[in-house]
Amino acid sequence: MNSKDFKRHRRLRRTESVRALVRETKLSKDDLIYPIFVVEGKGIKNEVSSMPGVFHVSLDYLTEEMKDLQSKGIRSVIVFGVPNEKDSQGSQAYCEHGIVQEAIRQIKRDVPSLTVIADTCLCQYTDHGHCGLVENGEVLNDPSLELLVKTAVSQAEAGADIIAPSNMMDGFVAAIREGLDEAGYSQIPIMSYAVKYASAFYGPFRDAAHSSPQFGDRRAYQMDPANRLEALREAESDMEEGADFLIVKPALSYMDIMREVKDRFNAPLVAYNVSGEYSMIKAAAMNGWVNEQEIVMEKLTSMKRAGADLIITYFAKDAADWLNE
Ligand code: PBG
Repeated sequence: MNSKDFKRHRRLRRTESVRALVRETKLSKDDLIYPIFVVEGKGIKNEVSSMPGVFHVSLDYLTEEMKDLQSKGIRSVIVFGVPNEKDSQGSQAYCEHGIVQEAIRQIKRDVPSLTVIADTCLCQYTDHGHCGLVENGEVLNDPSLELLVKTAVSQAEAGADIIAPSNMMDGFVAAIREGLDEAGYSQIPIMSYAVKYASAFYGPFRDAAHSSPQFGDRRAYQMDPANRLEALREAESDMEEGADFLIVKPALSYMDIMREVKDRFNAPLVAYNVSGEYSMIKAAAMNGWVNEQEIVMEKLTSMKRAGADLIITYFAKDAADWLNE
């Protein structure tokens, strides 16, 4: 065999500095969005048992936490509230002094340069644990939209920089866009959970957010993992309705969907690296079966390679530390 018969790809891999020259994808701290769980009460900083390293914090610990994030160079958070009281209408979701509204106000007061993204959903706030109003065992679409609009507007009033509706009701982007505009928040972008699958990877989050459905499951509103064309229809209608960002969730089993959504729609794409994906890596790392740092950085970089511009991840703090090294 002579030199014309094959290509020498290894020329570009010989040293770390050559590898750096030809690296196609780079993860940056600006890409990372850290999810936080805020609870009512005082003096609470409790680790979520199924998510080692992730905590429930009460407001008196929140500012300290946010300053810590900021000092690592993380600039965005997505806030989940875990209220004490739940009812059939999820009224704590849109209460002026609900836990999320108070948390947003406090972050914007104490650490104003952090971008605060508000997750807009009802499941943590309803006693039945579904993401909308329930009648005769069914989750109603249009009546739920009104409550989601109220929730989004109350979050914007509290100072949220971005609204992220995650409930998978049809028309939620259009309804929320109109509601925000009417309330004077036309400058607030919508980061839509456009493509959200009914996934077993949400298990640990539901422990953390106390948001498991009390009957049935979410398959009548979240998507079937088997479907790809449906994802494109979902993304298309959210774009038409005025979404500014598109989320694909979960991330790891849906890299193909991320790539297609990125190629077809001209909006920043967000990967949600969900709780189950986090906990599986944590568990393996704690057992010494995988190298946590290497595996996390590989995963996050792969999500960017698959088309994600931004990544919501419980690993954001660790990744920022590693990027700072
Ligand atoms: C629902 C919601 C879910 C997550 C965030 N918001 C999914 C669900 O319970 O159906 C999951 C996030 C994660 O697993 O990290 N509003």
